[in-house]
Amino acid sequence: MKATAIAPSNIAFIKYWGKADEALRLPLNGSLSMNLDATNTVTTVEFSPVLSRDEVTLLDGDFSDKEIERIIKSLNLIRSKTNTYSFARIATKNTFPKGAGAAASASGFAALTVAAFAALGITLSEKELTVFARMGSGSACRSIPDGFVEWKKGNDSDSSYAYSLHPSTYWDLRDVLVIVDYRMKKISTTEGQTGVKTSPFWRDRVAGIPAKMAAIKAALKAKNFRALGRIIEEDCLNMHHVMQTQNPPVYYWNDVTKTIMDSVVGWRKQGLPVYFTIDAGPNVHLVCEAKDEAAVIEKVQTVAGVENIIVNRPAQGTHLIQDHLF
Ligand code: DP6
Repeated sequence: MKATAIAPSNIAFIKYWGKADEALRLPLNGSLSMNLDATNTVTTVEFSPVLSRDEVTLLDGDFSDKEIERIIKSLNLIRSKTNTYSFARIATKNTFPKGAGAAASASGFAALTVAAFAALGITLSEKELTVFARMGSGSACRSIPDGFVEWKKGNDSDSSYAYSLHPSTYWDLRDVLVIVDYRMKKISTTEGQTGVKTSPFWRDRVAGIPAKMAAIKAALKAKNFRALGRIIEEDCLNMHHVMQTQNPPVYYWNDVTKTIMDSVVGWRKQGLPVYFTIDAGPNVHLVCEAKDEAAVIEKVQTVAGVENIIVNRPAQGTHLIQDHLF
């Protein structure tokens, strides 16, 4: 049986950086995100007894050997838990460049998980799907539930899962993704995170997360945009501070990133409610309400060095579709 899933990427408002368990991808802290509707991965999976190996194709580019190995590792996990002995044919495509800080691993492993179980004819709960996706890439678990999602830290594999706090229709926010560099990031998130505990500040950040989680959930509940934005920006800066003080440091910003960060503070002073957040790359996500989308785009277009702007709305979670890729 063939199955195809579409998965959104997600932007973390409270970020995940550092693992308590590398193999299971248990995080050092809980995180919270919004699914993004313009940056998706579509994946078709078919298990077949006639195949003599797994065949993995990225339709809009090339996978490195390391990436293929990681995908096969995920498949092996699914096979071992379901007593499946056949290899699989997989085709996948992104609606955005992978490695550009637009979280292709999140949407990639979410789509792979949902398509693979459907291709096997096995129905899992959403919670179970998030646990499997998490083992492919931590942030992938947050791309499975609808809209605004919390990934609970947990203390073992079953208790570290993601669930929807609010559906995608809950709040008409925008994530204006500003691409300042299309190239692959130099240090992968998996590699970068291994050094987290060399930062003298990681403990402080992790200790502050429960209070920040409570505050951001309250801001979401009250739809208090300024409170939400302040926490988003604060946690982004805290995470990058940890990254930059690791040994060796992990530094993802470039000059345009920094110009945009400074500009956002200036635009706010002029009365435009917009906040930035940045993942493991130089590209900047500008979070605003729908009513301010046009004004934010107009401002960002004036910044030299911006290569592209992708406007994301809150998206539903990963789901099956009938348009197969082969
Ligand atoms: C900075 O989920 O990509 O985007 O579990 O090793 O695959 P692995 O890491 P990954 O890390 C995401 C890091 C981040 C913050 C976030 O999305 O929470």
